[in-house]
Amino acid sequence: MGDSVKPFLKVLAGEKTERPPIWLMRQAGRYLPEYRAIRSQANGFLDLCYTPKWAAEVTLQPIRRYGFDAAILFSDILVVPDALGQEVTFVEGEGPRLDPVTCSADVSSLSTTWVRQRLEPVFETIQLIKSDLSDDVALIGFSGAPWTVATYMVEGRGSRDFAAIKGWAYRDPEGFGSLIDILVEGTADYLCAQVEAGVDALQIFDTWAGVLPEPAFQAFVTDPTRRIVEKVRAQHPDIPIIGFPRGAGPAYPDYLKQTGVTALGLDTAVPIGWAADTLQTLAPVQGNLDPIHLLAAGDGLKAEVDRIVSGFANGPHIFNLGHGIIKETDPETVADLVSWVRYP
Ligand code: CP3
Repeated sequence: MGDSVKPFLKVLAGEKTERPPIWLMRQAGRYLPEYRAIRSQANGFLDLCYTPKWAAEVTLQPIRRYGFDAAILFSDILVVPDALGQEVTFVEGEGPRLDPVTCSADVSSLSTTWVRQRLEPVFETIQLIKSDLSDDVALIGFSGAPWTVATYMVEGRGSRDFAAIKGWAYRDPEGFGSLIDILVEGTADYLCAQVEAGVDALQIFDTWAGVLPEPAFQAFVTDPTRRIVEKVRAQHPDIPIIGFPRGAGPAYPDYLKQTGVTALGLDTAVPIGWAADTLQTLAPVQGNLDPIHLLAAGDGLKAEVDRIVSGFANGPHIFNLGHGIIKETDPETVADLVSWVRYP
């Protein structure tokens, strides 16, 4: 079905391309005036995520504007706790709020039973996007990894020190493990349903992977991600999966080998020479421009693009940022970026 014409999928299959395909994390979002126009019609952020015609439209906006090689489903990692039965709200200008899950009794009030049913609007969105996407553009589905999603479920909001979740995980690894188990189960099912609705690849966002010491990283980042990859592959053996364990540093190689992900998303701090020698020889890599370089723009940005493209030129590479694009970004700078990545 024309998969061979999608450069993004070619690279995930291990091919090296003349110039890297490009998409950007958070490519749909508030830096785009056309996003803000749709967003202002919605009754809050989750209403936008759960209304298929709007979610499909904002997914496609950056594809129309820039011609990226991949679209990413417009949704959020926090729809999973919402579907498990922990209500999520987004406070304007502040971020997510949840009634914290802090003990085993709270975990037993969550259930994976209704995940597919409650997230039906997401699957409908995927079908709408697919019907509009051209043959050479891939569609990426995604979820958060259990650890990162759990940080919001336990802290009840974004955190600086992760004291509540780490306190629970270190004090009572078994009780906390039951929350991770539910997330593994619900997330694997959710990702399978996205594949069945038509996505071409998956990305697992572990934004807060980098805050854990080694044994906890193994238990709460690597192991749960490996279990999800196994469950998804048991149903869909050929689906490419990108793992993004942000901040994993020297743990990146073991994360790759042990989880079995197809490719690695590299955060901004990963040194390119090291990654080219140590990671890209084993798997395709994606990344890793500092999103703040888009604010600096101009010659500095051009030099960074050249450094990243040439540093990864000997193996399979997908150009991306090392973290999501921020809302202060000038849309014109993104157009410059795309042309500099494509035409040396
Ligand atoms: O990449 C894309 O374009 C697809 C959509 C997408 C969003 N969030 C849309 C969004 C994806 C892949 C995410 C992932 C996500 N969500 C992560 C992991 C990646 C990362 O950025 O670290 C995390 C940690 C979240 C949780 C989340 N969602 C927070 C903490 C916030 C509030 C902070 C903020 O930037 O406003 C959100 C809201 C959110 N998710 C917005 C968008 C476009 C902004 C909401 C708005 O329009 O009001």
